[in-house]
Amino acid sequence: MRAPSIHTTQRTVLVLGARGTVGSEVTRALLNAGARVRILTRSSNGLAHLPDTVERLLGDIRDRACLARAMDGVASAFYSSPHEEDEEQLARNVVEACETAGARLVFVGVHVDGPNRLVRALKRGTFGRMAPHYRPKFGIAERVRCSRAHPVLLMPSNFCQNDELFREQLLEGIFSQPLGHQGLNRVDVRDVGDAAARAMLDPSIPSGTHPVDGPATFSGPACAAVWSAALGREVRYTGDDEQSWTRPLRECLSGRKQEDFLKTYRMISRFYVPTDPRSVARTTELLGRPPRSYGEYVRDTLARWRSASAD
Ligand SMILES: NC(=O)c1ccc[n+]([C@@H]2O[C@H](COP(=O)([O-])OP(=O)(O)OC[C@H]3O[C@@H](n4cnc5c(N)ncnc54)[C@H](OP(=O)(O)O)[C@@H]3O)[C@@H](O)[C@H]2O)c1
Repeated sequence: MRAPSIHTTQRTVLVLGARGTVGSEVTRALLNAGARVRILTRSSNGLAHLPDTVERLLGDIRDRACLARAMDGVASAFYSSPHEEDEEQLARNVVEACETAGARLVFVGVHVDGPNRLVRALKRGTFGRMAPHYRPKFGIAERVRCSRAHPVLLMPSNFCQNDELFREQLLEGIFSQPLGHQGLNRVDVRDVGDAAARAMLDPSIPSGTHPVDGPATFSGPACAAVWSAALGREVRYTGDDEQSWTRPLRECLSGRKQEDFLKTYRMISRFYVPTDPRSVARTTELLGRPPRSYGEYVRDTLARWRSASAD
């Protein structure tokens, strides 16, 4: 297994969306690795914890001149496609800016993988019929993959951190996310951040797609059991009752992000996503260690919630 620091670039690296779920973890991981970090955000709220060494630019990805300034001199940029109506245009702006600057683009989104364009197009057609709201996302990832930005596409599974949208229910003893009775692979976003930082800093990481998976598949009742053990009280799985999981999503999220989450959850409750040991092995190689377990995520999250409420 290669040590993550061998080929590290000394040039500045750029994080777009550093206040987001994935972008904040990428920023943390880059700083831990000693990188020179620049961020472009639309607001400085919630960034007070970052050290002064982080170069902060305020601006919008819709503004191409601003994006070009942010990209100036950077070795690589991180971008996670947000749940925005114009996400395709935003992605085009980012890809073009990376190509012009000669920067590597490390991207997180939803990608349909395959050995060539034809196979991927056929698979996009099939998956697009099953999940029409993902069609723009599939197109974006393909554009990134075919770009001249030496792209690395990270393909994470279901985020453990989605649980935090359901914090109030979890603390009341309810796990409502409709993950079904067979389940899906779940990955800790801290690992997505660590993997992205590695790809941004180490030019020897090959362009192309890289799965970022957690070590195991979890059904809804299995997730409830992990929370139950951590909280020391019963946690019931209520994901078969649509009212139970739609209410927190409607309260916590708005706009396109809320719509995407509602559609995605309606879909995933019907699917079984077994863990592919080859994907876990590739994740382990990219991280230089095995991915974190769901149990570790739950314990760390609970400790963080408890320490925040003790302050
Ligand atoms: N949830 C899952 O289980 C899962 C699993 C696999 C893949 N994914 C994919 O992950 C992606 C979402 O990532 P995320 O959860 O990190 O999203 P997120 O938390 O919503 O963050 C998106 C970031 O993009 C920034 N942004 C949006 N529009 C912008 C603009 N016009 N200019 C500048 N910045 C802009 C936002 O900035 P502000 O902070 O200023 O608002 C925010 O920081 C989606 O493509 C999703 O499909 C999710």
